[in-house]
Amino acid sequence: MTNVIFPHRHLLGIEGLAPHEISALLDLSDQFVEKNRSTDRKASSLRGQTVINLFFENSTRTRTSFELAAKRLGADVINMQVSASSVAKGETLIDTAMTLNAMHIDVLVVRHPDSGAVKLLSEKVNCAVINAGDGWHEHPTQALLDALTIRRRKGRLGGLTVAICGDVLHSRVARSNMHLLSTMGARVRLVGPRTLMPAKAEKLGVEVFTDMVEGLRDVDIVMMLRVQNERMRGNFIPSIREYFHFFGLDYDKLSVAKPDALIMHPGPMNRGVEIDSDLADDVERSVIREQVEMGVAVRMACLKVATHNLAMGNA
Ligand code: CP
Repeated sequence: MTNVIFPHRHLLGIEGLAPHEISALLDLSDQFVEKNRSTDRKASSLRGQTVINLFFENSTRTRTSFELAAKRLGADVINMQVSASSVAKGETLIDTAMTLNAMHIDVLVVRHPDSGAVKLLSEKVNCAVINAGDGWHEHPTQALLDALTIRRRKGRLGGLTVAICGDVLHSRVARSNMHLLSTMGARVRLVGPRTLMPAKAEKLGVEVFTDMVEGLRDVDIVMMLRVQNERMRGNFIPSIREYFHFFGLDYDKLSVAKPDALIMHPGPMNRGVEIDSDLADDVERSVIREQVEMGVAVRMACLKVATHNLAMGNA
């Protein structure tokens, strides 16, 4: 079944995926949500398969949920601690990947600080590769879990207006979400200071706002982004206090969105910087914890599809 609907061995990004391929992954993820909520969570479809998590950047949600997803499907999982590996002795990314590849692994889940690094690696190995976030480029499973959260809450993606707010410039989450939401027929707005907006953002097929209240007016979804200090070279914002005043999401700014607008954040959050702490925890508006739950189901779907396609010999 998965061979026909999603015929790719690797999942490197959302860009280029067709609407029916995205829908297929979301449909399969939906099934895993229900499975994960049952007492019978454990499956065996990946028994005998090996998944390696190779993370060159820190992670809580993505790494843990990939591990949980693989274990729930019955796979053997290894979490490589990069700081304790031969990378610390100077081994290159490609040599590391080829070394792991020689051990007959099935899936390599990779996070790397450089955009394009995961694609480069995928060209050198026989196993399936899943991008767990590469630099500023893409974070495909995050966009899929965001889409699953929205679709389950709103019943659709097409026709919704989604505001992606904050540090868009440094955000791979924003890029993957822009591709996915536009492909699925949603209207995307980027909202944030000009200094944190990609050059020529208007040419990306989205609307751009530098005023938060204008950008949030009548939207269905408010997706907040973390201010990514670790990727900034220089001063992009005058001060945290000023940033929160103009671009931090609080009840006041949210009041111009639709009354049933949902608040999302990929995490980790900077409370009091891009989002008011009480609002982040307001279960009437915030679906941030639900996003985390959806992450496990989406990663189960991606692992299942990747291993299936690997077995079928798909490129
Ligand atoms: N959203 C996300 O990628 O979180 P982690 O960095 O904790 O994996």
